[in-house]
Amino acid sequence: MHKDLESILVGEQELNDIVKTLAADIDRDYGDKDWLMVGVLKGSILFMADLMKAMENDFKIDFVVVSSYGSGTESTGRVNVLKDVSQSVEGMDILIVEDIIDSGNTLHFLVRYFYAKGASSVKIVTLFDKPDRRKVEIPVDYVGKVIPDEFIVGYGLDYDEKYRTLPYVGILKPEVYTE
Ligand code: IMP
Ligand code: MG
Repeated sequence: MHKDLESILVGEQELNDIVKTLAADIDRDYGDKDWLMVGVLKGSILFMADLMKAMENDFKIDFVVVSSYGSGTESTGRVNVLKDVSQSVEGMDILIVEDIIDSGNTLHFLVRYFYAKGASSVKIVTLFDKPDRRKVEIPVDYVGKVIPDEFIVGYGLDYDEKYRTLPYVGILKPEVYTE
């Protein structure tokens, strides 16, 4: 385990099981139609890669980069699109892939953003959900695991751009972000 972690919250085997379950659910619901999976960079990178590999059906992929956090652990509430999708989403069914939902600000913004660009449907899959922290109510279609109000890192999730490459998810020691 990484020295900055208090404990491991979700190990590699459990991550694998979660991803397989989500992949089967999404495969079943989307079937063979032409649709677009949009990953929210950078946090969703490992989750999305594993999810895609676990799915039977073919679909298109794209990415957005948004910012709202700076280097802290609290959402600022403002969301900016730093990199947009690179194709028209007019008439497309979109599934947004997110690492974690916290305040809900990012996804609340993105869902409206894609509808405003003409998408015909916009759904959400998130690996983790911290419902205790929600500030904006937002319907989430697929949730990997509900977690307590702790700041977690690994498997794509970062603190100040660190720990994304860990193959498991752990709880960061509070002294790492309070000192
Ligand atoms: P929201 O807009 O407050 O829902 O925040 C969503 C974004 O905040 C996620 O995409 C993450 O990048 C980041 N985030 C929220 N909680 C955590 C956490 O526990 N660890 C790492 N990143 C987090
Ligand atoms: Mg993120």
